[in-house]
Amino acid sequence: MKNLNPKKIPISLYIHLPWCEKKCPYCDFNVDVDKQNGDEENLLKAILEDLEKSEKYISNRKFSSVYFGGGTPSLISSKIIEQITKALSNKKLLNSNCEISFELNPKEVMNDYLNELMNAGINRISIGIQSFDQKVLSSLERNHSSMDALKAVEIISSLNSINTTIDLIYGVMDQTLESVIKDINTFCSFDLEHLSMYQLTIEPNTIFYKRNLITPPDNSIELMEIEAKKILKSNKYYQYEVSSWTKNGKESKHNMNYWGYGDYLGLGPGAHSKITTNESITRMIKLKKVKSYIDNPCKTTNTEITTKNYDLDLAMNLLRIKEGLTFDEINKRNIYLSKTFLSKLEKGVEENLLERGGIKASDMGYKFLNDTVNIFS
Ligand SMILES: C[S@@+](CC[C@H](N)C(=O)[O-])C[C@H]1O[C@@H](n2cnc3c(N)ncnc32)[C@H](O)[C@@H]1O
Ligand code: SF4
Repeated sequence: MKNLNPKKIPISLYIHLPWCEKKCPYCDFNVDVDKQNGDEENLLKAILEDLEKSEKYISNRKFSSVYFGGGTPSLISSKIIEQITKALSNKKLLNSNCEISFELNPKEVMNDYLNELMNAGINRISIGIQSFDQKVLSSLERNHSSMDALKAVEIISSLNSINTTIDLIYGVMDQTLESVIKDINTFCSFDLEHLSMYQLTIEPNTIFYKRNLITPPDNSIELMEIEAKKILKSNKYYQYEVSSWTKNGKESKHNMNYWGYGDYLGLGPGAHSKITTNESITRMIKLKKVKSYIDNPCKTTNTEITTKNYDLDLAMNLLRIKEGLTFDEINKRNIYLSKTFLSKLEKGVEENLLERGGIKASDMGYKFLNDTVNIFS
């Protein structure tokens, strides 16, 4: 690949804070459950050193968004977060309207902590509610109760000034349609800006995978999705991505940059980056173990995106955006379209899976998104 011009490609920053109280049996993220006194200061040092040495990847750009994800970032003291955001603003790395998101588990949603986070520059909060139904939370073996979940959204919705999203999971063992409907209605009653709604995936390498679990059949899952969509629509929430719903234009800038094929720099154990240079696009992963990362924060495993897999990589991201991107938007984001990509696009249009005028799945194409994406393989 050539003439890619990284300076014109938007970039965001992801910071992975890996600690959790316990590992949830369905979780496949890079998590560590052994946080000791002093560990967070050591991780802070490593993250700041990593940032310092990442200039070559940033190429004089400013971050359009920053995302503190985990793990459970809310197990970290707000002082550490403030030192990271201070370093970013001292280095003039933040866009003036930068979205700075932070993930919290419900038990840590407390007024004092939230105020400290806001003082540190956090302007968007993501709470891992999963469900308001105690039975579902118990099936997921979560370490918070339905009371904790309700209390968390009550506290956050009393703070008018902060943009909020919550995560809900559906398709859990023994979860009923009524329980999903109740969860969505509860979410809507708080009038929050955003919802991420994930179907439970039983990932290999998780405890759930080793058990003989029975999740609801496909037709029940489809019904859950249909009913959830109806309620969300009647409450003026619209879907803008496979798992994401919002109202009043509060799409996640950070996630839209991933799906819009922007660059991102990942700091912290196991964090992923996608970085464009003049002639290549490379995906990089940091060392996964906390101690290894602290000892060697700049070491990465790199995979270059080749002309062979570029089309699929691009389609997998862009086609998640429900409204797609017009050719004008693609030009603005400086996304390179190969000849092969354009001919596959034409094929998708002929098969009624894609629409003309940009890169957008048709209604049918969005319903069968895997098939649509596979046109680009
Ligand atoms: C990596 S977690 C981090 C947030 C926080 N630690 C938590 O769990 O609440 C981000 C979100 O991914 C979702 N998630 C994690 N594992 C999942 C799985 N196997 N299937 C579906 N969603 C999952 C959950 O909704 C979770 O809130
Ligand atoms: S709290 Fe979140 S990140 Fe931690 S183990 Fe559970 S799902 Fe994974």
